[in-house]
Amino acid sequence: MPNRTHIKELLKKVGEEVTIAGWVDVRRDHGKLIFIDLRDASGKVQMAALPSHKEAHALADTVRPEWVLSVTGKVNKRPEKMVNLDEPNGAIELEILAVEVLNEALTPPFDVRSDGREIGEESRLKYRYLDLRRPRLQRNIKMRDKIISFFRDYMHRHDFVEIETPILMKGTPEGSREYIVPSRLEKGKFYALPQSPQQFKQLSMVAGFERYFQIARCMRDEDLRGDRQPEFTQLDYEMSFVSQEDVLQFTEQMFIELVRKLFPEKKIASAPFPRLTHAECLKRYGSDKPDLRKDKNDKDELCFVWIVDFPMFEKNDDGEIQATHHPFCSIKEEDVDKFMRGEDLFNIKTNSYDLVLNGHELSSGSIRIHQSDRQKKVFELLKISEGEQQKKFGHMLEAFKYGAPPHGGFAPGIDRVVMILMGEPNIREVIAFPKTGEGRDLMMDAPSEPNLKQLKELGIKLEK
Ligand code: AMO
Repeated sequence: MPNRTHIKELLKKVGEEVTIAGWVDVRRDHGKLIFIDLRDASGKVQMAALPSHKEAHALADTVRPEWVLSVTGKVNKRPEKMVNLDEPNGAIELEILAVEVLNEALTPPFDVRSDGREIGEESRLKYRYLDLRRPRLQRNIKMRDKIISFFRDYMHRHDFVEIETPILMKGTPEGSREYIVPSRLEKGKFYALPQSPQQFKQLSMVAGFERYFQIARCMRDEDLRGDRQPEFTQLDYEMSFVSQEDVLQFTEQMFIELVRKLFPEKKIASAPFPRLTHAECLKRYGSDKPDLRKDKNDKDELCFVWIVDFPMFEKNDDGEIQATHHPFCSIKEEDVDKFMRGEDLFNIKTNSYDLVLNGHELSSGSIRIHQSDRQKKVFELLKISEGEQQKKFGHMLEAFKYGAPPHGGFAPGIDRVVMILMGEPNIREVIAFPKTGEGRDLMMDAPSEPNLKQLKELGIKLEK
């Protein structure tokens, strides 16, 4: 739109004639005088239609909330008693000279100006594009962008290279069920969607990049909770030639800088962050993600805590052995002999660490195994047969034979970081288009039935 002025610029344009565009926030009829608040992505301004500008006044009389307008008018200072110091544009007003209706709007199914907590989630998610108009969600999504942009900048400042890794891949073990995608060219075969880029980031270390990162989308088919979605985003990173201490310090510095820069009103309870071993933490708090805040309702108190020395193995619900984190964590030097002999398995500790904030797990990570024989030993102890090892992880075992450097990394969940820093109770409030607790996209109606021609091409028949 030629010569359009953004609403946040109006304060600098007192006395000038401008054209603005946006949505009708509210319309108030004061007899002959009509007030309309117009909203664009940058802000809001009160406009007044005076009966003396006949044509504009008549049009202003017809507009309704959420209609899209382009308005030409004069920026005036408000009379002293009308100044509202709570609003960025509270000292000015636009005198409407001409109105163009760019689009009309149906009455929205709910109020888009409130904080939305009183509205049923079904409705909010079905009309997410309207729900996102509310100021709280606009703030959340814009802050999310700022946080991601901070992370990206921090990584680049420290010589990390952003590398995109495949979405269509073979499964990677992170302890959840994976989503699979049928192949048309090889009927009967499937890709898996990444639960995380774990293997690719380690292979990037074998490739010699030394410092990899990615704002990575991950997919996990697991039961959902307030801090879990079937797809979510990690700040995934990996470094070569580092110790656990290096990763911890690097990460800690990043979070301290993030809070200082974007949330100066918040207080980090203790820096350096306290550290607890996994065993100590369970003993003391009965949980591996304790909320150490003095006042559990204080959203401005940030209690980061490191949990270290996780056991390599644990028993799953069926009593079978599984990796506590994933099978790529390295073994603590003092436990390596036991490990190689396959003894006392549930007491073998790893060089692994979790970062917990206010009772939520933000991330797990570890220094990895970089020797093929040790990696193979883990698979053996996990009772993965030789054939299965080759089939699933042959590429890792092979890659480690070609000069794999020692390496380790971390992967904070960005949705959780934003949720906690924005004081939201649920990650759905900081994801633009989230799924319901049952994994449905109510707006698009997904998942949905496939088209039969497509299934045929894929060689798939549905069981009734
Ligand atoms: P992990 O499986 O612990 O580690 O995941 C790391 C972080 O990702 C976030 N997260 C989730 N966020 C929202 N919804 C989910 N369903 C979900 N699942 C996980 C959490 C979690 O702490 N590859 C390893 C990391 C590594 O070893 O470097 C990994 O994915 O914040």
